[in-house]
Amino acid sequence: MSKFDLREYKKVLEQKGRLITIGKEVSIVHEMAAVLKKINGETGVFFAKIKGYDMPAISGLTGNRQDWADYFGTSINLIREKIKEAMENPIPWQVVDKAPCQEVEIDPPANLLDFIPAPKFSEKDSGHFLTAGLVFVKEEETGNMHMSVRRMQVNDDGTLSVLIESPGLWNRYVEAEKQGKDLEMAVVLGVHPLLILASQINSYLYKGDKMAVAGAMAGEAVPVVKCKTIDVMVPAYAEIVIEGKMLAHVRKTEGPFGELAGYYGPASEQPILKITRITHRQNPWFQVIGPGTAEHKLPSALNREVVLYDTVKQVVPGVKDVHITVAGSGRFHGIISINKQFEGEGKTAILAALSSNKDMKHVVVVNDDVDIFDPADVEWAISSRVQADQDVVIISEARGCPLEPSNNIRGVSAKMGIDATYPLKYKEQFARIYIPGIDTINLDEYIKK
Ligand SMILES: Cc1cc2nc3c(=O)[nH]c(=O)nc-3n(C[C@H](O)[C@H](O)[C@H](O)COP(=O)(O)O)c2cc1C
Repeated sequence: MSKFDLREYKKVLEQKGRLITIGKEVSIVHEMAAVLKKINGETGVFFAKIKGYDMPAISGLTGNRQDWADYFGTSINLIREKIKEAMENPIPWQVVDKAPCQEVEIDPPANLLDFIPAPKFSEKDSGHFLTAGLVFVKEEETGNMHMSVRRMQVNDDGTLSVLIESPGLWNRYVEAEKQGKDLEMAVVLGVHPLLILASQINSYLYKGDKMAVAGAMAGEAVPVVKCKTIDVMVPAYAEIVIEGKMLAHVRKTEGPFGELAGYYGPASEQPILKITRITHRQNPWFQVIGPGTAEHKLPSALNREVVLYDTVKQVVPGVKDVHITVAGSGRFHGIISINKQFEGEGKTAILAALSSNKDMKHVVVVNDDVDIFDPADVEWAISSRVQADQDVVIISEARGCPLEPSNNIRGVSAKMGIDATYPLKYKEQFARIYIPGIDTINLDEYIKK
């Protein structure tokens, strides 16, 4: 048994009452997406009956902060510490001879939809998509497996179009292409959520092995097995492995697709994966991530919080907590609490936060008596501790994120910081009202039954 067996993890979620089973038959054309959007990726979901398929599907495994805190045995504000610890103490993956993910081996079908229930999500999507495909390619320089999630359009000629927007994978593809080579690639579906979480580490900033970070998070090496037709290692307990090659010098139109920030990403020419083989567990499960749900946004937010905290800490030693909100697409909005020691630290924290990642757009800095995971408490601080003419910082035309359309030039963005900390000399004036006994009172004892 392995800690990376998704079927075991599903049992844990069931025991905690954190998994909804959808018993009603659902269609993969919009209906599955609508159910996922209603649940918003915050709870595990198991689709037991999918119209036209024998295969069930699992979803909603990465979108709940409390589930992560429970998994790591910590509180929601300290998940970033666990991620950092794992990055600093990785446990290398271990090759196994026999792997559940290779119990069954099949030739690729003429159309992948003949095999797996890839949904059509939003109204104007160009077709059916894989959204939870964990992509593995070999890093020639280290022998590690590069791991990331990419959306994939299912093409009717048996190929998949792959959208690659970060250099971690793109540079490898272009390098292979320059040499006239195809890039061997495995797309893995049905994995333990730790692998998705670790995949979201930005390989620009972290040069280590992401799969070894997932191992450290679990306290046990990820068991891996070599693919049948390509020289790529994949997690042994995956439900489905699609082996193939990303073809050099071939592009196909991909998109539009309803994306992370709630808008359609445009159609563009993208590389394609030619499938060489498929292996899977007996009675495999499909995995799906609802685009734009918490499940889509939180894994990235949690990793970005590690970087945000460290960046702010360099200049404001009294930083207490950081929060990158799911509502801000897990990247645009940062909230920071500080134990303010010197006048000016609120603005200094804003400058550091806005430069911690190009996607960061709006930052709020509060004193450490504010709960940054409670939107009402943050709003209270803004309402009562901010004078807009002194406390709001605006920077025009910095590098931003192309995923949201509010700018004139895609990828160029204004930035704003709100310093909602109070001036140190007025500490007494800003002391919060406290009612003795409120922390221990049990309201149930007072309510007439
Ligand atoms: C559900 C989900 C879907 C994603 N889709 C894409 C995608 O289509 N294209 C892309 O480039 N990144 C996508 N990402 C983000 C990358 O997986 C992420 O940026 C990863 O850290 C990239 O790794 P790298 O820095 O090693 O390249 C997605 C992430 C998640 C969680």
